[in-house]
Amino acid sequence: MLEVSGLSKSFGGFRAVSDVSLTVDTRQIAAVIGPNGAGKSTLFNLITGHLRPDGGTVRLDGRDITGAPPYRICRMGIGRSFQRTNIFSQLTVFENVQAAFLVHHGRGRNFWLRADSLYREETAALLASIGLAAQEETVAGTLSYGNQKQLELGLALASSPAVLLLDEPTAGMSATETHETIRLLERIAAERALTLLFTEHDMEVVFSIAQKIAVLHQGHIIAEGRPEEVRADPEVRRVYLGHGLTHTQ
Ligand SMILES: Nc1ncnc2c1ncn2[C@@H]1O[C@H](COP(=O)(O)OP(=O)(O)O)[C@@H](O)[C@H]1O
Ligand SMILES: [Mg+2]
Repeated sequence: MLEVSGLSKSFGGFRAVSDVSLTVDTRQIAAVIGPNGAGKSTLFNLITGHLRPDGGTVRLDGRDITGAPPYRICRMGIGRSFQRTNIFSQLTVFENVQAAFLVHHGRGRNFWLRADSLYREETAALLASIGLAAQEETVAGTLSYGNQKQLELGLALASSPAVLLLDEPTAGMSATETHETIRLLERIAAERALTLLFTEHDMEVVFSIAQKIAVLHQGHIIAEGRPEEVRADPEVRRVYLGHGLTHTQ
């Protein structure tokens, strides 16, 4: 479904992503892990068109999407959750998701023109499926951190993506919120037949949900495979020495 081949990106003279190849099968849940600064976010930005690669290709379901602008890549089926910048903090939860539907259907320009009567059913259904129905009238800026992350997921889902990219979906969450988020992601992925690619620093999260793991280190993929293969990889263990991998059994 997603095929990254020989992807590279330098900033100045620094190679943040170096000859990275990676495939994610349809409906697979895959994770990219690696220490801080390994190049995970840069890789995601290359895939979603927010950065232009220096070399290499990105294919979505066989189609070359390398270098296409983000809005087109989104339309072609790669969704992505952003940090909270994407949330309108003054609007309610309902209005936020409704706005995401409006934007996806190209109504962004006449935003307030009878807009509040549109996509109400879709919005209600999506909020129910991500567990935010009870908070639909809550002003988004006042949501708990965990609920804001849920809302970000809802915004990404409004474009009905085939592939969803999540950059550290549980960052900053409590243990309880993390656990709930993982269960939510698993359920949503199954319900919507999603192909999921996420980055994560929490090894427990990664090994509890990912079917496939790629390990990025200094811009290079140093291991790729099933969780148990990656966990046993000597190079991976060396890179993660003292970073918690060995504690996750
Ligand atoms: N826009 C940029 N300009 C310069 N350097 C960058 C830029 N974005 C990322 N980097 C550098 O590239 C490396 C990889 O960053 P990043 O992809 O954010 O890593 P990760 O998400 O794995 O923590 C880091 O050393 C970071 O400082
Ligand atoms: Mg990052």
